Amino acid sequence: MLGEIIYEFYESVDSTNERIKARARDDAGQGLVISADEQTAGKGRVGRKWETPSKDTVATSILLKPYEIPVESVATITIVAAMAVRAALEKCCGLKAEIKWPNDLVIDGKKICGILTEMEMRDGKVWFVTCGIGVNVHNKSFPEEIAFKATSVDLELAKNNSTCKIHRSEIIKAIWESFKEYYNVFIRTGDLTNLRDEYQAHLANSGKRVRIEAQENSYEATALGINNKGELIIEVDGKEEIIRTGEVSVRGIYGYS
Ligand code: BTN
Repeated sequence: MLGEIIYEFYESVDSTNERIKARARDDAGQGLVISADEQTAGKGRVGRKWETPSKDTVATSILLKPYEIPVESVATITIVAAMAVRAALEKCCGLKAEIKWPNDLVIDGKKICGILTEMEMRDGKVWFVTCGIGVNVHNKSFPEEIAFKATSVDLELAKNNSTCKIHRSEIIKAIWESFKEYYNVFIRTGDLTNLRDEYQAHLANSGKRVRIEAQENSYEATALGINNKGELIIEVDGKEEIIRTGEVSVRGIYGYS
């Protein structure tokens, strides 16, 4: 179970995930959260870079020691984190984001948050996990190559004519408080038995046509929902198939989501 959360804030780090890993190797305890105004080497999924312009975004990572669950369940933490960020954005500023399977948060098809969960093993067992969350908050614009598919809290609030002024530190606290609740529900069963309905209620892909891009082939399917392991259930030519996290890329056929 996740208990007390200890917050540390830095002006500039290479990557909050990397700082958590260094502290974990130095014996820090579960629940340490490291956040930074700026990341000089922010990491995205599949080896991509994650831009963290100073003071515009939330860059925050937590140290977890999920010894209660089997190693195969660790990837599902990233789904739990997506649920937590979705709930936190709604609570803090009334924004209604959807989840693009497995763990991107999108508003009107544009990405507002990315999550990168990494695990380290020792003696064949899980040693620690770091779950890192990046949220675009005060960004007014994005580089041309991602402008069509990225948005921020401020841009979305402006669209809604909202006068809400939100601080990044409030978002960080709301995210991890919300994460603690969802994580402790998840850790009891090691799967999404008690969270799946809520996840699916916010799943952007639900009932939509998606393109499955595997290494050797690419095909269209209809996304039906997820199972208790967080795997995507799709229908192809009248038959159900399961897509595992990290195995393939799932793209919306119309728009980003
Ligand atoms: C993605 O590619 O969508 C995942 C992006 C994850 C970015 C966050 S920002 C905080 C943490 N530190 C990193 O270096 N990456 C994650």
